[in-house]
Amino acid sequence: MLDTRISRRAALMGAGAVAAWLASPARALLAAAGKVETPALVNDLIRRMTLEEKAGQLQLMASAWGGGAALSLNPPGNGSDFQQQVKDSAEGRLTGVFNGNGARMARIMQSAVMTGSRMKIPLIFAADIIHGHRTIFPVPLAEVASFEPELARRTAEAAAFEASGAGIDWTFSPMVDVARDQRWGRGVEGGGEDPLLGSLFAAARVRGFQGTDLRSNEHMLACIKHFAAYGAAESGLDYNAVDMSMRRLREVYLQPYKAGFDAGALSAMASFNEINGVPSTGNHWLMTELLRGEWGFQGFVVSDYTGDEEMIAAGYAKDGRDAARLAFLAGVDMSMQSGLYRDHLPGLVRSGAVPEAQLDQSVRRVLALKAMLGLFDDPFRRIDEKREQARSMLPATRALAREAARKSIVLLKNEGDLLPLPRSKRRIAVIGPFAAGTARNIGPWVVYGDNGRSVDLATGIRAAVENPGSVTVTEGSNVEDPVPGGIEQAVAAARQADIVILAIGEDAGMSGEAQSRTEIVVPEPQQALAEAVAAVGKPMVVVLRHGRALALEGAVADAPAILATWFLGTETGTAIADVLFGAYGPSGRLPASFPWKPGQEPYYYAHKPTGRPNPPGELQSYKTHFHGIPNSARYPFGHGLTYGKIEYSGLALSSPTMAANGSIQVSATITNRGSRAAEEVAQLYIHDRVASITRPVRELKAFRKIALAPGQSQTVSFTLTPADLAFYGLRDRPTVEPGAFDVWIAPSAESDGVHGSFDLIA
Ligand code: BGC
Repeated sequence: MLDTRISRRAALMGAGAVAAWLASPARALLAAAGKVETPALVNDLIRRMTLEEKAGQLQLMASAWGGGAALSLNPPGNGSDFQQQVKDSAEGRLTGVFNGNGARMARIMQSAVMTGSRMKIPLIFAADIIHGHRTIFPVPLAEVASFEPELARRTAEAAAFEASGAGIDWTFSPMVDVARDQRWGRGVEGGGEDPLLGSLFAAARVRGFQGTDLRSNEHMLACIKHFAAYGAAESGLDYNAVDMSMRRLREVYLQPYKAGFDAGALSAMASFNEINGVPSTGNHWLMTELLRGEWGFQGFVVSDYTGDEEMIAAGYAKDGRDAARLAFLAGVDMSMQSGLYRDHLPGLVRSGAVPEAQLDQSVRRVLALKAMLGLFDDPFRRIDEKREQARSMLPATRALAREAARKSIVLLKNEGDLLPLPRSKRRIAVIGPFAAGTARNIGPWVVYGDNGRSVDLATGIRAAVENPGSVTVTEGSNVEDPVPGGIEQAVAAARQADIVILAIGEDAGMSGEAQSRTEIVVPEPQQALAEAVAAVGKPMVVVLRHGRALALEGAVADAPAILATWFLGTETGTAIADVLFGAYGPSGRLPASFPWKPGQEPYYYAHKPTGRPNPPGELQSYKTHFHGIPNSARYPFGHGLTYGKIEYSGLALSSPTMAANGSIQVSATITNRGSRAAEEVAQLYIHDRVASITRPVRELKAFRKIALAPGQSQTVSFTLTPADLAFYGLRDRPTVEPGAFDVWIAPSAESDGVHGSFDLIA
């Protein structure tokens, strides 16, 4: 009975718009972007290389260069002697290095290879260009709050322009791991909790980094990481195991990777975690069957930092040789930092444990990419000391950083229209560890940026007000420790002021790799500062600094105005001041839900309904919620206020039914009843009421950012097709089932907005 029902529905999918989409010209174009051509030169080289030289092309190491300002972000690796590294390169034991420092270092190494090595295969220079090179843009999660993928394409392109000027061919970015547990520290590097939003940003970033021609010395190769499902580490504990259904993996976690590859990314990084018992780095299904077989990926895969060797501690490989064999046979072409491929691949081939043809295949992939990057034509094409300086922190790039920073800010709350603040006739006390000083602006995962060249909050505020003398600055507390007498000074400053701006939150080192936290709150000494300052009773604006969604408490949560400002990079202070004083009206939306309490994690809006949903309003016993709090977010995904007064009305559907091969238009009117201009992000969500696999309470399917002058109305209109209604069915295949669907156009994932419904008919 059940089977008949499913197969009838599955058939509907096959005939419907999903199939049409799969065959669409747009998709074909995107696929063409990811094509690799192997020049004859590459095959010729492979014929002449020794096994050791082949293994060398598959071994990447952290740079050992000590001259320069690159920050070391990982435990120091083996190659701590630069002269030895140059020698290794000249003797063909290295394919390239990462996180080195600039054109001068690259020139020394590349020259050694081009003059001294037998095969003269240029090195590739890689780096973690995560949110900028010298000009630092907002952390990736913040930028997703703009709900403007085109902005991310532009900042990625600007980062590529600076970094490629400094000799960098390849960035370990974008990180596209869906992150639904705020305890995990690495959510800051990615695209938030939603697969659609994350996918759009993944694709945009790839296009920005790579441009349309990889040979361009203004672009670089992108790397989709961490493949796969790294963001689903159990309990948000970094490096932890992942165990999940194939359906959830495909429907949620795999989406942004796929989007990045479809946009043309030609390298991928294996994730540290295991999936369902098998480490990604040794996972043949993941790296070969899915990635290459099903998705047609033609680039190369690199392990993460010592990820191959870590399969020993994880209990999957016996020793280094076994780890190299398992990773390589799974489909990981290149090893990062462990040295295992260099040390073991030649012996593994000689013993017959690894076929030489497979070794050749991986070398071919790597050399083909070096060729596509133009390195065989000119190994020095991105290495130019003058250009490195000439491209660094140009006014236009800083202007883009300011634009990106202000678009990343989310206005969480604005009671009594406290914001924007007047620019004159007010005494302003800026209080908190983030009030002044540049040390913490640029945030986590920056290798080449300089906090010292960023604008701090106090400087931004003083530049924005008419009388800079009316602004006082008081630290009040350190990030995690009290300052002796700090609270007293802060309270005194608040008493003297008309308005308090409380700049509190997380330090840059509190999110990012290995920064899992059980308490996703404002640290206790700053919370105490907030309580004391709030008790003075002055109008208070909380300006949060953070790398994750936080659970706000007490006086912080109760403040009349709250801005989520993440880590905004070089133009931190300027951008926040732009929003505080109304030079720019906030337009950002949360890419991750702020829970009521840390213990709700993982909390995400697209959760399942359960058989006992708690109705809105009072908490009912034996209905789904944690003790004392609703089963919702304090500030849900998609939430963000403007300086206008936005109203949603008049939901209209072009038809009450959608045919299996048809579509419907869903539209609504959005009006700004306020006296200030606003940019609103209208979001379209659906819910499949009854299905053979239960469906999330809501799923984002589209959004649009519109500008509304005071008093202006606009109609936003979206087209839905059966492809938007698809899910992975009982047999883990895309399926669309007839039936009733709810649809909302709303200002967030948990607000009512305007609501309607339609039927999909067979
Ligand atoms: C991180 C990667 C990064 C690599 C190289 C690893 O620890 O997980 O995201 O690209 O180091 O720096």
